[in-house]
Amino acid sequence: MKQLLTVFALNMGLAAAAWAQDVTFNEARFRVGDDPAWAAPAFPDGAWQTLTLDKDWNAQGVANANAFAWYRIHVTIPSSLKKRSPEWILLDLGPIDDSDETFLNGRPVGKTGTFPTDPEGFFGAWEAPRHYAVPSKYVRWDKDNVIAVRVYNGGDPGGFYAGGACIGQPALPDLVTLSVTGKDGDYQVELVSRVKTFGTLSIESEDVATGVADPRSEKELALSSKKPTLVRVPVSGQKRLTVKYADRVYGGVLEAGLCEPYILTPPAPAIPRYNGPLVYGLRPGSPLIFRLAFSGEKPMKYAVEGLPEGLHLDADEGVLSGSLDKAGDYPMTFVATNGKGTACAAFTLKVGKTIALTPPMGWNSWNCWGTSVSQEKVMASAAAFLNRGLADYGYSYINIDDAWEAEERAADGSIVTNEKFPDMKGLSDWLHSHGLKLGIYSSPGDRTCGGYLGTLDHERQDAETWNAWGIDYLKYDWCGYDKVFKAGTDRSVAAYVRPYLKMEEYLRAQPRDIFYSLCQYGMADVWTWGHAVDANSWRTTGDITDTWKSLYNIGFERQTELWPYAGPGHWNDPDMLVVGKVGWSDNLRDSRLTPDEQYTHISLWSLLAANMLIGCDLAQIDDFTFNLLCNNEVNAVNQDILGRQARQDAFEDGMQIWSRDLYDGGKAVGIFNLNGETVPVDLAGCLAKIGIEGVETVRDLWRQKDIPMGLYKIPSHGVLYIKVK
Ligand code: GLA
Repeated sequence: MKQLLTVFALNMGLAAAAWAQDVTFNEARFRVGDDPAWAAPAFPDGAWQTLTLDKDWNAQGVANANAFAWYRIHVTIPSSLKKRSPEWILLDLGPIDDSDETFLNGRPVGKTGTFPTDPEGFFGAWEAPRHYAVPSKYVRWDKDNVIAVRVYNGGDPGGFYAGGACIGQPALPDLVTLSVTGKDGDYQVELVSRVKTFGTLSIESEDVATGVADPRSEKELALSSKKPTLVRVPVSGQKRLTVKYADRVYGGVLEAGLCEPYILTPPAPAIPRYNGPLVYGLRPGSPLIFRLAFSGEKPMKYAVEGLPEGLHLDADEGVLSGSLDKAGDYPMTFVATNGKGTACAAFTLKVGKTIALTPPMGWNSWNCWGTSVSQEKVMASAAAFLNRGLADYGYSYINIDDAWEAEERAADGSIVTNEKFPDMKGLSDWLHSHGLKLGIYSSPGDRTCGGYLGTLDHERQDAETWNAWGIDYLKYDWCGYDKVFKAGTDRSVAAYVRPYLKMEEYLRAQPRDIFYSLCQYGMADVWTWGHAVDANSWRTTGDITDTWKSLYNIGFERQTELWPYAGPGHWNDPDMLVVGKVGWSDNLRDSRLTPDEQYTHISLWSLLAANMLIGCDLAQIDDFTFNLLCNNEVNAVNQDILGRQARQDAFEDGMQIWSRDLYDGGKAVGIFNLNGETVPVDLAGCLAKIGIEGVETVRDLWRQKDIPMGLYKIPSHGVLYIKVK
């Protein structure tokens, strides 16, 4: 792994962007409410309370969810800074929970996130550091200056929380931004500068699928502060592009990149091919809802050899239904035939106590639609399971997240849907008839996270209602239960277990199999007791979002110790997928993860035996996203019947190797490059690191072909995902 060291050193060089801190501060006057007059420097804030900036306002005794508050910070800014930084200074406020608008001496100087009063609605950015470059002419040198920060908090906690706020001299990234746009070999680099300066732009590109590099080019640039500098980069074919701008005046290097979506999964053959799980768990007497997942040309005819009495096959649709009273293993053979040929697959239905023998595969409405979900939108994604063929790869759950609930319960106390869901039973009947399943969301509290009705004191009644609606999956989200928890004094693990144990009793009393998904973000090490409440999966972290930071934190950092707790029937859930069109609202956008990061995301979830719940609008699924979600060899690792979650075997120089044993004696191995640069890796050397020697070829799971030992380039944040036989 010698090459890796070189790359690491280079990254360190790029990160160096030193700047002096002239003023640091950790205190502010604070007041709940909202008034534009509070931006004015002269506003008398002497009676306001004082808060520190290194703890959120809840931790300092303020409760103010879904509302505005203002901070006013008084600072003297020394004129020594003016000498070094005559045109611009930098306000570095750190992250603020959730959105803010900041003023210096009454003038607006920056805004991050949006407010509910904005035309586009509220969008929080609690994790983003606030770096605001401010014209020096706004400063009152050597006198009192007022930084007024208007904050909106969408859900507790709120406000400043990280400390370390300061004022100083801006560095290159505060003054110049670099970006690349374009597609199909026609790219444009844009530099927007607040100052007049000059430097060198270097451009590197390589073919996105083969990794073959083009010659590197360089260009000297003089940047104006009046208008953006544009550089066209015409290259041929689909590219992964890296541009770097090294500034001569301010020092430092900016880097930006662009990678076009690229498809690695070969198209499915026209003849039938089975892509579904090899086993399925069903409780005695529960209705079976199971679709035979065969890809290939349609129409197709299905048959099952060894079909036990009590089950029925719809030979045109490939849907198995019925029920079996006797526990035991029921081996059978699925047969699918189309105009191109026939394929068979061995399968075992395991009737017994344990369901979810492999991780659930399906869709959930939250990451795309948020609270704007409706029955129509759910139907559109379900229809895509069928007509785009995701159901041919084993995806079967269609899960409605928050925002299906009515304002009030019915007179008899039962839970009812709001007007966006006119017919829950009709929806489940339709899904079941196609071998698909329906999931729902609720909370043990009186309210859900989105502020809708929860189950508190109606647990039994709600479980019965869900059974009547034909629900197959419950995501049970702590959220509103926090109130009950905090009203008590018990902080033992039992206090965390209690609400989940209660629902388990009512859920398991229903005459159908309902996948029980715990959502409480990993509190009290849920993975150590989730099986005791008969949960089928438990969220291990807070919510995922479509950024590398989130993916890295949730997927890599937070999963390393969790492998012993997953297995058939109970899985660690690192949250739903963030590929495709997401948005948590009516405004959908392409996932902000790069294509390489999306390959990493799916590879890692496959290795982690994670719930594969798609979070994008499937009505708009593109070929790239389909290729990510429907690679049968990648999914087969996720669905492997041993159910072993991958372990992190090696971590060196920003490279991580994760592997898991498979039931056929093979091993799935992901070699991940977490560096900011492409890294060439010696495959045999990597395998040796995890104790595998003497193999000549391995299976490249994304490309579905055998590859020899050798040097493989892994792009920044990308992966080489292989199976060793
Ligand atoms: C929490 C959960 C999310 C989603 C929302 C719904 O934040 O973690 O996955 O279910 O609630 O309000």
